[in-house]
Amino acid sequence: MRVALGADHAGFEFKDRIAQMLREEGHTILDFGTHNATPVDYPQYGYAVGEAVATGQADRGIVVCGSSLGISIAANKVPGVRCAVVTEPLSAELARRHNDANVLALSERLTGWEMIERLVDVFIHAPFDGDTPEGARHKHRVEQLFEFGAPQRERTLKAIEAGEVTGAVTPKELL
Ligand code: RB5
Repeated sequence: MRVALGADHAGFEFKDRIAQMLREEGHTILDFGTHNATPVDYPQYGYAVGEAVATGQADRGIVVCGSSLGISIAANKVPGVRCAVVTEPLSAELARRHNDANVLALSERLTGWEMIERLVDVFIHAPFDGDTPEGARHKHRVEQLFEFGAPQRERTLKAIEAGEVTGAVTPKELL
């Protein structure tokens, strides 16, 4: 698998360790930096990893900052990215199985290295259930994540004004 990595100064040490771990497993790494503790701005690294995944240069992306939050927000701004902030293995698994997450956001300041290793492992290996007939509902829902253009926004604003969100029932054949 081709994996794009990016981190700010508060996440580059784990990013480098993740690169080493994945290279040892035979993955190809696209490392967008940063490479040292000189303070940098996390959005640039979130955007770079997001674009690499969205344009198909990489199959998956992993971003690391101090908290995982800022860099995840940046990555999720790139159309086509589904970036999940994850701190324990079940969420990592569900992010893949239900949400087809293509970017993982990790924290170097709040999560220990042993947990990071497990999270990366699950993220790389867990499949998307939406690729199976039994999991068709997940595909149906993930597709909706990219419908938020002007018409969808208008529907949502009307629904909020009416005090009720409707029209979001999963079709029976997909259950
Ligand atoms: C850097 O100090 C820190 O703010 C950054 O790594 C990240 O946690 C932001 O969300």
